[in-house]
Amino acid sequence: MAILPILEVPDARLKVVSTPVTLFDDGLKQLVADMFETMYDAPGIGLAAIQVGVPKRVLVIDLQEPVEADHEHGEHCNHDHEVVRNPRVFINPEILDPSDEWAVYSEGCLSVPDQYADVERPATIRARWHDLDGKLHEEEMDGLMATCLQHEMDHLEGILFIDHLSRLKRQMVLKKLEKQRKLAA
Ligand code: NI
Repeated sequence: MAILPILEVPDARLKVVSTPVTLFDDGLKQLVADMFETMYDAPGIGLAAIQVGVPKRVLVIDLQEPVEADHEHGEHCNHDHEVVRNPRVFINPEILDPSDEWAVYSEGCLSVPDQYADVERPATIRARWHDLDGKLHEEEMDGLMATCLQHEMDHLEGILFIDHLSRLKRQMVLKKLEKQRKLAA
């Protein structure tokens, strides 16, 4: 496995439309393994292949939700609460039946590091995708999973979450990112 470099705005490759996977081979398994390692290292909860420069319709997601703790996370609690790992792979994903109801989440993206903004998307979707063996799956999704899958699927069309913002808000986010890069340099 390998940690791959993540493309960041304004890299033109992030605007490329990715092509469907037709070969479910060892190369695909390797790509997915590398994508998981890259995503966990970042750390992030989702990654599209184009974010590591591969224009294929491949996504990995792991929401890494916290384990139900036996106590509240309070001031006397000085350890990291455990998360459950639930790695999921989506190949050639499609969205069916997006709900009329919308949900708002403060989204971020490894390609727009440390920047967050509210994005509105359908609250519930039905998703269809292939797994690593080419088997077809279908599932109803809501909450963070629905939002995350839609965010990652946007990457396959060359769309970033900041493209959902007004021009003014998008420019504010990009300016903040630019400032942060200068400070880090
Ligand atoms: Ni993203």
